[in-house]
Amino acid sequence: RRKISIAIDGPASAGKSTVAKLLAQKLNYIYVDTGAMYRVLTYAVLKAQLDPGDENKILSLLKKMTISFTSEDLSQQRVWMNGEDVTEEIRADVVTNNVSEVSAHKKIREEMVARQQAMGADGGVVMDGRDIGTAVMPKAELKIFLVASVEERARRRYEENISKGMTVDFETLKREIAERDYKDSHRKNSPLVQAADAVKIDTTGMTIEEVVSEIEKIIEI
Ligand code: C5P
Repeated sequence: RRKISIAIDGPASAGKSTVAKLLAQKLNYIYVDTGAMYRVLTYAVLKAQLDPGDENKILSLLKKMTISFTSEDLSQQRVWMNGEDVTEEIRADVVTNNVSEVSAHKKIREEMVARQQAMGADGGVVMDGRDIGTAVMPKAELKIFLVASVEERARRRYEENISKGMTVDFETLKREIAERDYKDSHRKNSPLVQAADAVKIDTTGMTIEEVVSEIEKIIEI
C-alpha cells in the first residue's frame, strides 16, 4: 500500500498525540510531534532567561539548536535538544504556560515549518500540531481535526497528572487549557484553524481506540 501523509490538528489536550502515535504504530509510519519542538525551544528560552517576546534572539537560539526524536518504542518516544534528553522537562507547567507566546513569532514558525516539512518529505508520516493541515503539509492525503469539550480535555489532563502523582487544581487546568487555545487560535501567524478539507472528529465521550478505528475507517475508503 502506498505511504501517505496524515495531518492531525486540534486544540490542546484533545488526544492528538496519543491517537497519532497509535496510528503511526499501526501503519508503521513515522510520528512527528511538532508541539514537542515548540516546547523544546520554549524550554531553552526559559533556561537562557530570554524574553519570550524577543523574536530575533529566539530565532538565533533556534538556528543553533538541534531538536530530534528517538523512538525504538513509540509509546516511549524521547525528545532531544542538542543531544540532551529533555523529554520530561518540556512537559513542565512553566513551559506549557509560555509556549504559545514563543510559538506565535513568524520567523520562529518559518524555521520550524521548514524542519517539519523536511521530516515529512518522504511520506509515511503522521504529524500532529496546530498548523499541519494548513501550513506544514497542505497537500496531506488525510487531514483530521480533533476536538473535545474544554471540560473533557481538562478532565483527561487532570487524570493524567494524578496518575503521575502530581497534584493539580481542576479549575486551574481548565482555565490554562482555554487560555492556550485562545492564544493559539487568535495569533496572526498560522493560527489554529480547521483546514477546509479536514475531517472533524469530536472525541468527547470517545475512547482512544474508538478514535483510532474511526480514522482507520476513513483511510480504508
Ligand atoms: O501539542 P502541544 O500541546 O504540545 O503544543 C504546545 C504548543 O506549541 C501549542 O499550544 C502551540 O502554542 C504550539 N504549537 C504550534 N504549532 C504546532 C504545534 C504546537 O504553534 N504545529
